[in-house]
Amino acid sequence: MTKKAAPIPTRHVLWFSWKLVTFFCIAFSLVALFRLHSQYDISSSVISRSRSRIRYDSFDGPPKIAFLFLARRDLPLDFLWGSFFENVDAAKFSIYIHSAPGFVFGESTTRSKFFYDRQLSNSIQVAWGESSMIAAERLLLDVALEDPANRRFVLLSDSCVPLYNFSYIYNYLMASPRSFVDSFLDGKEGRYNPKMSPIIPKGKWRKGSQWISLIRRHAEVIVDDEVIFPVFKKFCKRRPPLDARKGKMNIKLQKQHNCIPDEHYVPTLLAMSGLEGEIERRTLTYTQWNQSAGENQNWHPHTFSYTNAAPQQIKEIKSINHVYYETEFRTEWCRANSTSVPCFLFARKFSRGAAMRLLSEGVVGPFDVSELLDTS
Ligand SMILES: *[C@@H]1O[C@H](CO)[C@@H](O)[C@H](O)[C@H]1NC(C)=O
Ligand SMILES: *[C@@H]1O[C@H](CO)[C@@H](O)[C@H](O)[C@H]1NC(C)=O
Ligand SMILES: *[C@@H]1O[C@H](CO)[C@@H](O)[C@H](O)[C@H]1NC(C)=O
Repeated sequence: MTKKAAPIPTRHVLWFSWKLVTFFCIAFSLVALFRLHSQYDISSSVISRSRSRIRYDSFDGPPKIAFLFLARRDLPLDFLWGSFFENVDAAKFSIYIHSAPGFVFGESTTRSKFFYDRQLSNSIQVAWGESSMIAAERLLLDVALEDPANRRFVLLSDSCVPLYNFSYIYNYLMASPRSFVDSFLDGKEGRYNPKMSPIIPKGKWRKGSQWISLIRRHAEVIVDDEVIFPVFKKFCKRRPPLDARKGKMNIKLQKQHNCIPDEHYVPTLLAMSGLEGEIERRTLTYTQWNQSAGENQNWHPHTFSYTNAAPQQIKEIKSINHVYYETEFRTEWCRANSTSVPCFLFARKFSRGAAMRLLSEGVVGPFDVSELLDTS
């Protein structure tokens, strides 16, 4: 064919452009469809995961508080908690205990029937100050979420005590639609590991007490987290303590990055999930810190004994109505559902003697002498 390169007629140009536009439209649609599909895959796996739990809305009955105990082995203050739960409507609370693997709560290991067989069957070995602590907390939350009646989730240690009776604590927690999670910025502490970036940006790094109280939705966020926890496991590790036997190795070890996972995980995760507007940024558990242990060194929580758990001291703790966060220059006036309330419902660390005194002073309920005799 020797057809000359004649000017292409306008009609052909139009036709070609039309085909081009159609082609791109189809291509875009396909790409969009593909992306939609892959997004759908991700979200549907999340849905199927939470679908295995009974829907929150589908439940009607009295809401429960789930008391989640993180124990080393037994619960030394079980006699006080036993008295706390006595005569309470069983439909209003549930108990779960994470203890050493294989440790069973029964007649021979606890003085309170409320704890019989309440231990998790899948518990793990926990090293204090390591990420296994968070793993244990997540196991507790996961099991407690199986009961749709559980609406508040309170994490407690084996040395925690209640400062009020059950009905007071129940009404306080249920009145607030928010979680209570201590959460603050601390520019000085240096626990943020730059290697966490970009998954955890420095701006979202938070610090706060491990002792939290959660609403159901936040408990689900923590259990469903598959992104932040692995980063903590890898980059938030405690520096080993000085050990004379290790000699010169110490110089290297003490240069290691120091991070205490359980003091950062929950507040950081909630900040990253955009949920800070749904929390009261404070803990409900009072801890007295011994500041004489040295400047910025590891402060030690003070342990209450019989003598310093006197009614006057307990009354002082119960009358605290605000907390000052010096790294943020923030005064947190304690509120629940916009009403002024005492800041603390629980306290740690209490010895048996101190807990005995609370019991005999009638802090958790009317005192019955037979409870003391049972515990001898
Ligand atoms: C619980 O404590 C509150 C306040 O401390 C008190 O008003 C209430 O009567 C107590 N309830 C029971 C059932 O003891
Ligand atoms: C929270 O406070 C509001 C306003 O005072 C009140 O109407 C509501 O019932 C309270 N919520 C709960 C759960 O007590
Ligand atoms: C505080 O810590 C110091 C040093 O570790 C100790 O000697 C002191 O007894 C502690 N005080 C209290 C009230 O626990």
